Amino acid sequence: MNQPLAISPVQQYLERLHAELQTVSAGEIASYIPELTRADPDWLGIALVTVDGHVYQVGDSRQPFTVQSISKAVSYGLALEDRGLDAVLSKVGVEPTGEAFNSISLEPDTGRPLNPMINAGAIATTGLIEHEDGVDPLQHLLEAFRRYCGRELSIDEAVYRSESETGHRNRAIAHLLYGHGILDRRPEEVVDLYFRQCSMLVTARDLALMGACLANGGVNPVSGIVALKSDWVHRVLSIMSTCGMYDFSGGWIFNVGMPAKSGVGGGIMAVLPGQFGLGVFSPRLDDKGNSVRGIRVCERVSRDFGLHMF
Ligand code: DON
Repeated sequence: MNQPLAISPVQQYLERLHAELQTVSAGEIASYIPELTRADPDWLGIALVTVDGHVYQVGDSRQPFTVQSISKAVSYGLALEDRGLDAVLSKVGVEPTGEAFNSISLEPDTGRPLNPMINAGAIATTGLIEHEDGVDPLQHLLEAFRRYCGRELSIDEAVYRSESETGHRNRAIAHLLYGHGILDRRPEEVVDLYFRQCSMLVTARDLALMGACLANGGVNPVSGIVALKSDWVHRVLSIMSTCGMYDFSGGWIFNVGMPAKSGVGGGIMAVLPGQFGLGVFSPRLDDKGNSVRGIRVCERVSRDFGLHMF
């Protein structure tokens, strides 16, 4: 006799949560990069990937959007692999700023950005990505994303151009970093790579899988490929815990209790080490640049299952 297919409790839970949070309409789409205003404010995608490779997804979980600042977690891991800890620490610190993501938080004497999750620190980090011996840094970065996501990512050219045409503050930051000797490549070149890195197209499913790689000691649980060498995973997760949600990082770790990284495209990647990666996409942001419904989803998952790490 044919049995109806059973829907897993996790899938049922995510579907209920999606339906409930779909009604939340607070927040505004980011407009300082003009092209981002083309997003549908109602999009809501949720995906969860476990360390044993189960994938759960609901809503707009396959809708592409630009990764933006979530890329900073990937580039930081790559810079650590390429240059080693001391070289990276000599150019970028590990202290939270309590300030906005575009703040110019540099140490007064050295010009070293306080951490790699603010724009200044991320631009410095991108400047550290391997570019010697004929290695194209963009291809090197795309290759890292491919290991995390298990597929080739592309760049949203319209968003890239839009940010490139309007990103004067990031250009100024890159020049300051160059002036301080934090960048040793031309600022225009580094900031261009940074804009491309932020314009890579991902889905909520990709974010969940990226998070699952970090939850799984750096190994992609679906492909078995090493996305990030295990030596560096705890460093990336530590920075996400203290600095991943900008000037909401304290409130986030207090309430949700998982390392996470957000982006102004509306994505959040959260990680429960040893358990799963959670990816949420919803483009309406709060005044700190974090997805309103993305935060709500993560708060609920953490609370409903008692997943706070501490
Ligand atoms: O540098 C910028 O302004 C963007 N490309 C990325 C910023 C971002 O995603 C901050 N996120 N909340």
